[in-house]
Amino acid sequence: MILVTGGAGFIGSNFVLAAVAAGESVVNLDKLGYAGHLESLAALEGNPRHVFVKGDICDRALVRKLLAQHQPRALVHFAAESHVDRSIHGPGEFVQTNVVGTFSLLEEARAYPGKNFRFLNVSTDEVFGSLTETDPAFTEKTPYAPNSPYSASKAAADHLVRAYHHTYGLPTLISNCSNNYGPLQLPEKLIPLLIHNALAGKALPVYGDGKNVRDWLYVEDHCKALSAVLERGAPGETYNIGGNSEKTNLEVVEAVCSLLDELKPRAGGRYRDLVTHVKDRPGHDRRYAIDSSKIQRELGWKPAESFASGLKKTVQWYLANADWVKKVTSGTYADWVKKNYAARS
Ligand code: NAD
Ligand code: TYD
Repeated sequence: MILVTGGAGFIGSNFVLAAVAAGESVVNLDKLGYAGHLESLAALEGNPRHVFVKGDICDRALVRKLLAQHQPRALVHFAAESHVDRSIHGPGEFVQTNVVGTFSLLEEARAYPGKNFRFLNVSTDEVFGSLTETDPAFTEKTPYAPNSPYSASKAAADHLVRAYHHTYGLPTLISNCSNNYGPLQLPEKLIPLLIHNALAGKALPVYGDGKNVRDWLYVEDHCKALSAVLERGAPGETYNIGGNSEKTNLEVVEAVCSLLDELKPRAGGRYRDLVTHVKDRPGHDRRYAIDSSKIQRELGWKPAESFASGLKKTVQWYLANADWVKKVTSGTYADWVKKNYAARS
């Protein structure tokens, strides 16, 4: 039995689906904020190996109760506010969930007497800051230099996790992963946003010159890496996870448009005609790149998908799952986008 936080979000739901399919039992704690959707877990309805609990990771009494009741062998912590643009509009919630929430989990984990217990903190490469075109990729030894309220809050959480290992001997693991893409990602992040807008005939917004670089990883590969870290990682260690797929945003836009041209041609034009350059994100990090040689060498993990194969699967998934997209983009999500983005594109 493992306790997962944020398992109704993008990566968390992919992880929970894979874990249950592999025979694991999961207690899934998620507050179902704007990014959490039970629709993503519909395949687990009625499955006794998945127990969903709606609640906040900052609720320490609830976390304590779940640990005592289910006696998990591990806690895998995904729950977070995860979108850089939102962190620029309103950083308070990022400090609350990402810093205070992680602290709450650490405190309860410290008091939990579970045997051989492990605490895996799922983090991001954004804690390392921004690279120039010629800098070497981030390693586990790269100093932290976060630039957005999002990455600063994730960095603060990582530091607390590290300190709980060093000071209290809590068996913690940290993974720092690059940009994920794949099924079940809310269309506020670049790749699903491009697919969603293109299919709706809306503008494809490219921030600034579009030459910022991200190192893209297919979400199922990330989930496999997390299982490797959870099962075989050494307590107190951190592991960088990346796709070895550095692309400029313009290259990503081009790849998505070409796939859509092939799989669902646009009546009256090409999808790339919808590309629109918009105002740059404040403090926009130029380049992220991950050196994942440690996890490859020590835990035997490497990505199975190339960017081309993973992106094709992703576009096909979105074409086949229009109902899911419709559900997750309605309600409070739609209201927020209308309020904050209407003037931009
Ligand atoms: P997401 O925004 O899709 O999902 C986050 C989930 O956490 C949602 O289901 C939300 O309801 C839940 N949540 C938020 N605050 C909560 C709270 N206080 N209590 C309980 N639940 C809460 O995020 P994601 O993209 O799936 O990212 C998951 C984790 O992976 C995050 O910690 C993120 O920092 C990290 N990460 C993401 C990426 C990426 O490319 N998406 C890359 C590296 C690391
Ligand atoms: P995003 O998916 O928000 O992830 P992150 O900011 O965590 O890397 O953005 C990926 C890249 O795409 C980033 O350089 C910002 C850019 N971007 C756009 O150009 N347009 C958009 O509408 C979005 C959401 C992102």
